[in-house]
Amino acid sequence: MGVRISLRDVWVRIGPVEVLRGVSLDAGGENIVLVGRNGAGKTTTLRVMLGLLKPYRGSIVAESNGVKLDAGRIQPHVVARLGVGYVPQGRMIFPDLTALENLEVSYGSSLPGDVLEWLYSLIPDLKRFIDRKGRYLSGGEQQMLAVARALVKRPKLLILDEPLEGLAPRIVKTIVEVLKSIEEEGVSIFITESGSLARVRELVDIAYGIDRGEIVYKGPVEGIERDEKARARIWGF
Ligand SMILES: Nc1ncnc2c1ncn2[C@@H]1O[C@H](COP(=O)(O)OP(=O)(O)OP(=O)(O)O)[C@@H](O)[C@H]1O
Ligand SMILES: [Mg+2]
Repeated sequence: MGVRISLRDVWVRIGPVEVLRGVSLDAGGENIVLVGRNGAGKTTTLRVMLGLLKPYRGSIVAESNGVKLDAGRIQPHVVARLGVGYVPQGRMIFPDLTALENLEVSYGSSLPGDVLEWLYSLIPDLKRFIDRKGRYLSGGEQQMLAVARALVKRPKLLILDEPLEGLAPRIVKTIVEVLKSIEEEGVSIFITESGSLARVRELVDIAYGIDRGEIVYKGPVEGIERDEKARARIWGF
């Protein structure tokens, strides 16, 4: 069984700014993209889902296998234990640690051989740079490592914050292939994107559109570009 995280009417204020204004969404089960321009509130939404940020109004529920957490218990380590992996925006790799050591930090001890073999089966390139330090990895390699790191505890829901940002088209293709093989393992994907959906369309079923802290679309990913109001708010055309 998968993990589900639901937000209902979530409001977040940072300083004087209302960053989220009544966000409701459901993650898990289906593969989902959250799309919105820079500053729309994507990362903030993920931070609420993960328990890194408390809304001043609204509710969050996370459940997995009959275990149900309500807002008071939504804390990052508890959400992770429920089976949620997180790939933060900007990758956040330790530059002075090797790829393997980066994985071990997330795992909490040395990585069992079967976990490493499973990661190699999903991300074959990882083998090539497993002993290289973070600072010597290319952008694409860092992103592959960031994905691997989020997988070490074998999550059922993988949340990725703009994993394709700033990557060359060839590398985007590689990462998309990696994400497809992760889906085939039964892991649900929740991904954010700030531009066109062309790159993620084959990965996801459902799209949420966000603009200035408001959800402006929810439905099949094919429908979002046909929704004139949503399109204008998300892409400005
Ligand atoms: N720590 C913070 N301090 C001040 N303002 C913040 C902070 N975090 C977010 N904001 C503001 O909240 C709004 C939403 O930010 P958020 O990072 O969620 O957007 P985003 O959709 O992830 O954007 P991007 O595509 O650039 O990553 C922005 O206007 C941003 O400036
Ligand atoms: Mg962001």
